[in-house]
Amino acid sequence: MNKQQRKRIIDKHRDSLTRHGYHPNALYWSNQGIQQARFKVLAGIGIQASDSVLDVGCGFGDFKGWSESKGCRLKYTGIDLSTDLLKQAEHLHPDGKFCSGDLFDMTFGQGSFDWVILSGALNEQLHDDSVYAFRVITRMYSLCRKGVAFNMLDARHLVAHDLHSQMPERVLAFCQGLCPNCVLHDEYLNNDFSIYMLKTNRGSASGTAAKAK
Ligand SMILES: C[S@@+](CC[C@H](N)C(=O)[O-])C[C@H]1O[C@@H](n2cnc3c(N)ncnc32)[C@H](O)[C@@H]1O
Repeated sequence: MNKQQRKRIIDKHRDSLTRHGYHPNALYWSNQGIQQARFKVLAGIGIQASDSVLDVGCGFGDFKGWSESKGCRLKYTGIDLSTDLLKQAEHLHPDGKFCSGDLFDMTFGQGSFDWVILSGALNEQLHDDSVYAFRVITRMYSLCRKGVAFNMLDARHLVAHDLHSQMPERVLAFCQGLCPNCVLHDEYLNNDFSIYMLKTNRGSASGTAAKAK
């Protein structure tokens, strides 16, 4: 990601935060339902209370709040390019850890977290044929002990021209090159898909390397 692309993402979230305040619209989610539908799928990889989670592109840290509302308290670290969003996240979640920047600004060691998740942070169009997205996925996988769960916009459906989308099967094939135990979910929203990459057989997708039904 170049400096201009980074600035564009930071500026657009500063602007949306000014317009919407603490609201899913400030994150460019159309409503809380679709934000939480994504959280539910990501959590379904097998995240449990007391697990450590790195949330890449955490926004307001809403995954932490949602998870706690389900009785699942996490050791939570969120990173985001937008310091404006992170200020609100820190206010909402004083017991979370928050760092500003992208994944490649961070010095986390291999296997630092049980789980590494990402929701919506690969939706920015960088016009690089997904090279950055694949680098992020590779880095996420190196940072987890148990697994990675992330989502992307589904290129089989109409997506706004300024957003990044991909064909699920292409992303799944890339992930399978890194991890033998991958599962694709594309049944929860009509323009989104999620992939689980499991390092252990403890998650809900144990033993499968296929599309979830
Ligand atoms: C659609 S919002 C989702 C926020 C949060 N994951 C949620 O679902 O509530 C995408 C977030 O990713 C952040 N973001 C976009 N690209 C990023 C990158 N390369 N590295 C870190 N954060 C990024 C944005 O600033 C924004 O907060």
